[in-house]
Amino acid sequence: MKDIINILLLGSGGRECAIAWKLSRSPRLGTLYVAPGNAAGFGRNVDLDPMDFEAVREFTDSHDIDMIVVGPENPLVAGIADFFEGHPVKVIGPGKSGARLEGSKEFAKEFMVRHGIPTARFMSVTDETREQGLHFLESLSAPYVLKADGLAAGKGVIIAPSLADAKDTLGDMLDGMFGNASATVVIEEFLTGIECSVFVVTDGEDYKILPVAKDYKRVGERDLGPNTGGMGSVSPVPFADEEFMHKVVTRIVEPTLSGLKDEGIPYKGFIFLGLINVNGEPYVIEYNVRMGDPETEVVMPRLASDLVDLLEGVADTTLGIKKTEEDPRAAVAVMLTSKGYPGQYEKGKPMTGLDRDFGPDTLLFHAGTKTEADGAIVTAGGRVLACVAYGDTIADAASKAKAAAAEIDFEGKYFRRDIAADLL
Ligand code: AMP
Ligand code: GLY
Repeated sequence: MKDIINILLLGSGGRECAIAWKLSRSPRLGTLYVAPGNAAGFGRNVDLDPMDFEAVREFTDSHDIDMIVVGPENPLVAGIADFFEGHPVKVIGPGKSGARLEGSKEFAKEFMVRHGIPTARFMSVTDETREQGLHFLESLSAPYVLKADGLAAGKGVIIAPSLADAKDTLGDMLDGMFGNASATVVIEEFLTGIECSVFVVTDGEDYKILPVAKDYKRVGERDLGPNTGGMGSVSPVPFADEEFMHKVVTRIVEPTLSGLKDEGIPYKGFIFLGLINVNGEPYVIEYNVRMGDPETEVVMPRLASDLVDLLEGVADTTLGIKKTEEDPRAAVAVMLTSKGYPGQYEKGKPMTGLDRDFGPDTLLFHAGTKTEADGAIVTAGGRVLACVAYGDTIADAASKAKAAAAEIDFEGKYFRRDIAADLL
């Protein structure tokens, strides 16, 4: 690849903002375009729909783009990497076949079984096998985990508290609760433990592991209330120590990568392992084929080495000679959200405090924000802004992130004050 490269980053959330920030710090970056982007200024926004592959190609061709970094899963599951097969631009992200690890829960579970990767016991059920599905539920104990096979905008997992609930939910899902995405339902045994997110980057031959993170999914403090896209994150994760990570690498990362190879599935990009630590033993809750949000908002700050260089390794299959270095400091992200989120929420609220100087240890990553014609920055989503801080300890990082979260304002602002508290 050239010394200086132009990159098109697809997506518009906090994850993409953190990736854009990290790319923008590389001496090897030429121009960074973000499609469609938000009010963050780390790249030039382009009004492009990441799902309109023809339009992405036209832009790529007319702007001398060398690399496309795909933030969200949808374009990957829909085959954007396959679309660019044979085209000189390099796409960071798997093709359709690899993206099934996220695009089909049934595929992912069967893949894990084929390769002996630890995961919860399961059965996949369709309309024809409803009866067997009900019997399988009866063989489990409460609570019950039901997952739509396909992508359901992050809402396709239901944890049912009782058997009666679980049976009703199975019926509702098969009857179209998530449209076609739940025509197949994966029923799983419930695992009890603490979760963490491990990010692997691979060129199909070699791999590197990025800093481990933990996210906070429930809207309320002490992890109560409905699920969200993520209310905050922390890295590192104290329980993901050397011994635990050795198990993760030998039982999960390596079998996953060799499984992909054995099945003839080419894979260049990120693999996000959603793990649960059950009494010291890691199990896979889910695979994603992209980075996590809001985990990326703490992973990128803790990646001390160059991201353009790393992604070049992915594109050119030279990852084996690349290095990843971790910043020894902790990082915590506190997400500011709009009133009502994750339900109905209002947008267009003017934001204040963004231009304050919070010092070198604090970073602001825009998620749902937009710049108005007059230059004012307003809210434009449920998750609005990630306030991220470094600290010598997790406690220190958390208190700085919360301080920034308190200073930035917009009508109806909400944030969790207990991000990372469970790890202290
Ligand atoms: P989502 O991010 O919407 O896929 O949320 C799925 C969440 O459901 C996970 O983060 C876990 O908290 C929970 N979950 C999924 N599968 C299981 C399982 N087998 N046992 C326990 N919790 C689970
Ligand atoms: N933070 C979880 C996800 O990105 O799916």
